[in-house]
Amino acid sequence: MIRLEAASPVLPPGLRELLDDLGSGETGFGGTTVPTGETTIEDFVQQCCDMTDPSTLQSGLVPQTTFWALDADGTVVGMVRLRHYLNDKLRLQGGHIGYFIRRDQRSKGYAKEALRLALIELRKLGETRALLTVDLRNIPSIRVIERNGGHLESTVTDPDTGRSHRRYWIDLEP
Ligand SMILES: CC(C)(COP(=O)(O)OP(=O)(O)OC[C@H]1O[C@@H](n2cnc3c(N)ncnc32)[C@H](O)[C@@H]1OP(=O)(O)O)[C@@H](O)C(=O)NCCC(=O)NCCS
Repeated sequence: MIRLEAASPVLPPGLRELLDDLGSGETGFGGTTVPTGETTIEDFVQQCCDMTDPSTLQSGLVPQTTFWALDADGTVVGMVRLRHYLNDKLRLQGGHIGYFIRRDQRSKGYAKEALRLALIELRKLGETRALLTVDLRNIPSIRVIERNGGHLESTVTDPDTGRSHRRYWIDLEP
Protein backbone atom coordinates (compact mmCIF):
# COMPACT_ATOMS: atom_id res chain seq x y z
CA MET A 1 0.00 0.00 0.00
CA ILE A 2 2.71 2.45 0.96
CA ARG A 3 6.45 2.18 1.43
CA LEU A 4 9.01 4.29 3.26
CA GLU A 5 12.03 5.72 1.47
CA ALA A 6 14.80 7.52 3.36
CA ALA A 7 15.24 11.13 2.23
CA SER A 8 18.04 11.62 -0.29
CA PRO A 9 19.00 14.54 -2.56
CA VAL A 10 16.72 13.05 -5.24
CA LEU A 11 13.34 14.77 -4.76
CA PRO A 12 10.37 12.42 -5.06
CA PRO A 13 7.21 13.44 -6.97
CA GLY A 14 4.69 15.31 -4.84
CA LEU A 15 7.16 16.58 -2.25
CA ARG A 16 6.39 20.26 -2.81
CA GLU A 17 2.66 19.62 -2.50
CA LEU A 18 3.28 17.69 0.73
CA LEU A 19 5.33 20.54 2.22
CA ASP A 20 2.74 23.11 1.13
CA ASP A 21 0.13 21.07 2.94
CA LEU A 22 2.30 20.73 6.05
CA GLY A 23 3.00 24.47 6.14
CA SER A 24 4.34 25.58 9.51
CA GLY A 25 3.34 22.28 11.10
CA GLU A 26 0.34 20.54 12.60
CA THR A 27 -0.42 19.08 16.05
CA GLY A 28 3.17 18.59 17.11
CA PHE A 29 4.63 17.64 13.74
CA GLY A 30 7.00 20.47 12.87
CA GLY A 31 6.68 22.30 9.57
CA THR A 32 9.11 24.06 7.24
CA THR A 33 9.63 27.47 5.68
CA VAL A 34 9.66 25.99 2.17
CA PRO A 35 6.11 27.21 1.38
CA THR A 36 7.00 30.82 2.30
CA GLY A 37 10.13 30.71 0.13
CA GLU A 38 12.53 31.28 3.05
CA THR A 39 14.10 27.84 2.46
CA THR A 40 14.50 26.11 -0.88
CA ILE A 41 13.14 22.62 -1.17
CA GLU A 42 16.65 21.38 -2.00
CA ASP A 43 18.09 22.96 1.18
CA PHE A 44 15.29 21.50 3.27
CA VAL A 45 15.93 18.01 1.91
CA GLN A 46 19.66 18.43 2.48
CA GLN A 47 18.97 19.39 6.11
CA CYS A 48 16.87 16.22 6.46
CA CYS A 49 19.76 14.15 5.08
CA ASP A 50 22.32 15.88 7.31
CA MET A 51 20.37 15.00 10.46
CA THR A 52 21.32 11.35 10.14
CA ASP A 53 24.98 12.25 10.76
CA PRO A 54 25.78 12.56 14.51
CA SER A 55 29.03 14.45 13.80
CA THR A 56 27.22 17.50 12.32
CA LEU A 57 24.30 17.72 14.75
CA GLN A 58 23.68 20.72 17.00
CA SER A 59 23.98 19.87 20.68
CA GLY A 60 20.77 18.59 22.22
CA LEU A 61 19.66 16.89 19.01
CA VAL A 62 19.81 13.15 18.37
CA PRO A 63 20.29 11.67 14.90
CA GLN A 64 17.08 11.53 12.92
CA THR A 65 16.16 9.87 9.63
CA THR A 66 13.40 11.42 7.54
CA PHE A 67 11.39 9.02 5.41
CA TRP A 68 8.96 9.84 2.61
CA ALA A 69 5.83 7.70 2.59
CA LEU A 70 5.20 6.81 -1.06
CA ASP A 71 1.95 5.45 -2.48
CA ALA A 72 1.70 2.77 -5.15
CA ASP A 73 2.44 5.37 -7.87
CA GLY A 74 5.58 6.55 -6.09
CA THR A 75 4.01 9.86 -5.06
CA VAL A 76 4.79 11.24 -1.62
CA VAL A 77 1.68 11.13 0.55
CA GLY A 78 3.36 11.55 3.92
CA MET A 79 6.47 11.94 5.94
CA VAL A 80 7.98 10.17 8.97
CA ARG A 81 10.68 11.43 11.33
CA LEU A 82 12.56 8.69 13.15
CA ARG A 83 14.78 9.62 16.09
CA HIS A 84 17.49 6.98 16.45
CA TYR A 85 17.37 7.04 20.27
CA LEU A 86 15.90 9.13 23.08
CA ASN A 87 17.37 11.92 25.15
CA ASP A 88 15.76 13.30 28.32
CA LYS A 89 13.70 15.85 26.40
CA LEU A 90 12.35 13.32 23.88
CA ARG A 91 11.67 10.85 26.70
CA LEU A 92 9.25 13.36 28.18
CA GLN A 93 7.76 14.66 24.91
CA GLY A 94 8.53 13.88 21.29
CA GLY A 95 9.43 10.22 21.49
CA HIS A 96 11.05 8.23 18.70
CA ILE A 97 8.64 8.74 15.81
CA GLY A 98 6.49 11.48 14.28
CA TYR A 99 4.36 11.20 11.16
CA PHE A 100 2.32 13.42 8.88
CA ILE A 101 -0.08 12.47 6.09
CA ARG A 102 -1.30 14.90 3.40
CA ARG A 103 -4.82 16.06 4.27
CA ASP A 104 -6.41 14.75 1.06
CA GLN A 105 -4.88 11.30 1.69
CA ARG A 106 -6.05 10.76 5.26
CA SER A 107 -8.28 8.00 6.67
CA LYS A 108 -6.90 5.46 4.21
CA GLY A 109 -4.77 3.68 6.80
CA TYR A 110 -1.55 5.31 5.56
CA ALA A 111 -0.37 6.54 8.97
CA LYS A 112 -1.07 3.19 10.57
CA GLU A 113 1.05 1.48 7.91
CA ALA A 114 3.75 4.19 8.01
CA LEU A 115 4.13 3.72 11.77
CA ARG A 116 4.30 -0.07 11.37
CA LEU A 117 7.11 0.33 8.84
CA ALA A 118 8.90 2.94 10.95
CA LEU A 119 8.90 0.57 13.93
CA ILE A 120 10.75 -1.98 11.78
CA GLU A 121 13.33 0.68 10.89
CA LEU A 122 13.75 1.60 14.55
CA ARG A 123 14.33 -2.04 15.48
CA LYS A 124 17.07 -2.19 12.82
CA LEU A 125 18.80 0.65 14.67
CA GLY A 126 18.98 -1.50 17.80
CA GLU A 127 16.11 -0.10 19.87
CA THR A 128 13.90 -2.70 21.56
CA ARG A 129 10.89 -0.48 22.28
CA ALA A 130 9.53 2.72 20.86
CA LEU A 131 8.15 5.75 22.66
CA LEU A 132 5.33 7.66 20.99
CA THR A 133 3.91 10.83 22.48
CA VAL A 134 0.65 12.38 21.35
CA ASP A 135 -1.52 15.35 22.22
CA LEU A 136 -4.56 14.16 24.18
CA ARG A 137 -6.87 15.75 21.60
CA ASN A 138 -5.22 14.09 18.60
CA ILE A 139 -7.69 11.22 18.32
CA PRO A 140 -6.55 9.97 14.86
CA SER A 141 -2.94 9.71 16.04
CA ILE A 142 -3.99 7.99 19.27
CA ARG A 143 -5.85 5.44 17.12
CA VAL A 144 -2.75 4.94 14.96
CA ILE A 145 -0.55 4.29 18.02
CA GLU A 146 -3.03 1.98 19.74
CA ARG A 147 -3.60 0.00 16.52
CA ASN A 148 0.17 -0.56 16.42
CA GLY A 149 0.20 -2.04 19.91
CA GLY A 150 0.94 1.06 21.98
CA HIS A 151 0.45 0.72 25.71
CA LEU A 152 -0.15 3.87 27.69
CA GLU A 153 2.46 4.70 30.31
CA SER A 154 1.41 8.15 31.45
CA THR A 155 -0.38 11.37 30.67
CA VAL A 156 1.67 14.50 31.22
CA THR A 157 0.31 18.02 31.60
CA ASP A 158 2.53 20.98 30.79
CA PRO A 159 2.20 23.37 33.76
CA ASP A 160 2.82 26.40 31.50
CA THR A 161 0.32 25.66 28.75
CA GLY A 162 -2.08 23.36 30.59
CA ARG A 163 -1.98 21.02 27.59
CA SER A 164 -1.72 17.28 28.10
CA HIS A 165 -0.07 14.56 26.08
CA ARG A 166 0.01 10.81 26.36
CA ARG A 167 3.17 8.69 26.40
CA TYR A 168 2.89 5.25 24.82
CA TRP A 169 5.43 2.43 24.50
CA ILE A 170 5.45 -0.15 21.72
CA ASP A 171 7.58 -3.31 22.12
CA LEU A 172 9.54 -4.00 18.94
CA GLU A 173 9.59 -7.47 17.43
CA PRO A 174 13.09 -9.01 17.52
C1 LIG B 1 -2.54 11.70 12.62
C2 LIG B 1 -2.46 11.44 11.11
C3 LIG B 1 -1.01 11.10 10.75
C4 LIG B 1 -3.37 10.24 10.78
O1 LIG B 1 -3.18 9.93 9.40
P1 LIG B 1 -4.17 8.95 8.60
O2 LIG B 1 -3.43 8.41 7.43
O3 LIG B 1 -5.44 9.66 8.37
O4 LIG B 1 -4.37 7.79 9.68
P2 LIG B 1 -4.98 6.35 9.42
O5 LIG B 1 -5.91 6.42 8.25
O6 LIG B 1 -3.86 5.36 9.36
O7 LIG B 1 -5.76 6.06 10.77
C5 LIG B 1 -6.47 7.09 11.40
C6 LIG B 1 -7.30 6.47 12.53
O8 LIG B 1 -7.95 7.55 13.19
C7 LIG B 1 -9.35 7.43 13.00
N1 LIG B 1 -9.82 8.80 12.80
C8 LIG B 1 -9.57 9.62 11.77
N2 LIG B 1 -10.17 10.81 11.98
C9 LIG B 1 -10.79 10.71 13.17
C10 LIG B 1 -11.58 11.58 13.94
N3 LIG B 1 -11.82 12.84 13.54
N4 LIG B 1 -12.06 11.15 15.13
C11 LIG B 1 -11.80 9.88 15.54
N5 LIG B 1 -11.05 9.00 14.85
C12 LIG B 1 -10.57 9.42 13.69
C13 LIG B 1 -9.54 6.55 11.81
O9 LIG B 1 -10.81 5.93 11.84
C14 LIG B 1 -8.41 5.57 12.01
O10 LIG B 1 -8.69 4.66 13.05
P3 LIG B 1 -9.12 3.14 12.76
O11 LIG B 1 -8.03 2.52 11.93
O12 LIG B 1 -9.23 2.52 14.09
O13 LIG B 1 -10.42 3.22 12.01
C15 LIG B 1 -2.92 12.67 10.30
O14 LIG B 1 -4.16 13.08 10.76
C16 LIG B 1 -1.92 13.81 10.35
O15 LIG B 1 -1.01 13.88 9.53
N6 LIG B 1 -2.11 14.73 11.32
C17 LIG B 1 -1.19 15.86 11.49
C18 LIG B 1 0.16 15.45 12.04
C19 LIG B 1 0.04 14.67 13.33
O16 LIG B 1 -0.83 14.92 14.15
N7 LIG B 1 0.96 13.72 13.52
C20 LIG B 1 1.01 12.90 14.71
C21 LIG B 1 1.79 13.54 15.80
S1 LIG B 1 3.50 13.71 15.38
